[in-house]
Amino acid sequence: MATVLAIETSCDETAVAIVNNRKVCSSIVASQILVHQQYGGVVPEVASRQHLETINEAIAQALEQAQLDWEKIDAIAATSAPGLVGALLVGLTAAKTLAMVHNKPFLGVHHLEGHIYATYLSESTLNPPFLSLLVSGGHTSLIYVKGCGMYETLGQTRDDAAGEAFDKVARLLKLGYPGGPVIDKLAQQGNFQAFSLPEGKVSLPGGGFHRYDTSFSGLKTAVLRLVQQLEKDGGQVPVADVAASFQETVARSLTKRAIACALDYGLDTIAVGGGVAANSGLRKNLQAAAVEHNLRVLFPPLKFCTDNAAMIGCAAADHLSFGHTSPFTLSVESRLALTQVMKLYHPKS
Ligand code: KG4
Ligand code: ZN
Repeated sequence: MATVLAIETSCDETAVAIVNNRKVCSSIVASQILVHQQYGGVVPEVASRQHLETINEAIAQALEQAQLDWEKIDAIAATSAPGLVGALLVGLTAAKTLAMVHNKPFLGVHHLEGHIYATYLSESTLNPPFLSLLVSGGHTSLIYVKGCGMYETLGQTRDDAAGEAFDKVARLLKLGYPGGPVIDKLAQQGNFQAFSLPEGKVSLPGGGFHRYDTSFSGLKTAVLRLVQQLEKDGGQVPVADVAASFQETVARSLTKRAIACALDYGLDTIAVGGGVAANSGLRKNLQAAAVEHNLRVLFPPLKFCTDNAAMIGCAAADHLSFGHTSPFTLSVESRLALTQVMKLYHPKS
């Protein structure tokens, strides 16, 4: 059972954690939200600079919180893809440097594999196969998890990611950034049946609709038209009702696809990951549908749904147990399919 120090800097959180296999010894997350809020979204240049300013302190805090010194660390890991290139470079360079200085193995980790591993932090007995529903600011996918590094993408979004849709709708409702948590809170005071919005289906060439893919850009446009119409009619826009109706539509769309996919592939467990896994509407819809279909649905605690380094360490520890380590020549990549995860590790001889 390896103890891993892991770093995550793919977007706007500077995160460092120490995990022992599936147990979290410490987890530090320094959010940059306040800095980016003034720009209405994440500014890549600003994110890199913030990571640089924060990373050393976050590493020191993670060691202190875990009450461990370098001797007790077996390996050092960092997210290497996908994400903002400049931001990723800060974490990856720090991890490589520490691994060289302390003479430890180094591992690059795929950010989405980390989100899948977040579930293990609270459900330590969970083992593949299972279905992962990944819903974050940049991704919306249904992944068949077969084992460590073994993934098949069964469904994905054709346009906006679920979190992106929340952020864009929040912006047009003038609710600020990031949109997910604000919409979630407002939706709880609104009537989700107030407005009927289109779910966004993906057509198949031979007719019919894709069972697992999602599309959220039409829904976003429908919300925009609805708000414009309500404004034109001269009344006050019932923001809570619009938020609730939008959230319900997203939650239903994701639930329907995840359940269909699990049933079709004979998988009895759905593990949800990514920032949108925090959403109360999605949790309610998916849990109810899972009970109805006799499936198990697992949500990590909120702090492990959004970006953190504990999930990265957990994935790295598992790879290490299979003898996977990364070359020091590994670089960052802004895009990398989950099916390409094994590219990050030394080829097996
Ligand atoms: O996984 P994450 O922290 O970062 C990425 O890897 O993208 O996800 C961030 C996304 C943002 O779009 C944010 O608006 C959304 O997750 N989010 C939520 C909630 N909390 C965060 N969306 C809906 N409801 C929430 N409660
Ligand atoms: Zn993420």
